[in-house]
Amino acid sequence: MHQDIERILVTEDEIVEICDRLGKQLTIDYQGKKPVFLGLLKGCVPFMSDIVRKVELPIEIVFMSVSSYHGGIASSGDVKIKMDLDIPISDRDIVIVEDIVDTANTIVTIMDLLKHRGAKSVKMVTLLDKPEGRLRPYQPDYVGKVIPKEFVVGYGLDYDEFYRNLPYVGVLKPEVYTKKHE
Ligand code: PRP
Repeated sequence: MHQDIERILVTEDEIVEICDRLGKQLTIDYQGKKPVFLGLLKGCVPFMSDIVRKVELPIEIVFMSVSSYHGGIASSGDVKIKMDLDIPISDRDIVIVEDIVDTANTIVTIMDLLKHRGAKSVKMVTLLDKPEGRLRPYQPDYVGKVIPKEFVVGYGLDYDEFYRNLPYVGVLKPEVYTKKHE
């Protein structure tokens, strides 16, 4: 895996600092509340696992499975719900947990859906924000790190389902995804 990475963009130490900082902020901002932390599978898994342990509040953890990439390196724009929520969310404070916001197609679609279902509030925390990738205007509420427009993998982010278990976020060597389509 490591040999396919051109350079590291977010180190393991930085990830620890990000989770600490955002966990503290969420603890302050949601004081007195019982928010639902909603992870969008599968990319959220490592970040969800780390950040919830830095939030000192009574929280619930739930997941939805959505997909818009369908295996490639660019968003298809067509957001599919593969697995829905298993709890009612009307009148609940929701914090969506994401690994990355790129085009914002996924987050805008899911935010609209949750508001339509009667959530009291919907905010989101993302490890990475790639603002140059936007196809819709959207500003995440809590951001770990802003990154340039490059295809990144690791710490939840995949290319064709691999590399999610890298402990850091790195830029994939372009020959890895060009080779596949030759
Ligand atoms: C990735 C990522 C976000 C979304 C962000 O999910 O986890 O959910 O894309 O991109 P966008 O802002 O352009 O919508 P993906 O659909 O690849 O599924 P995965 O989490 O299972 O990898």
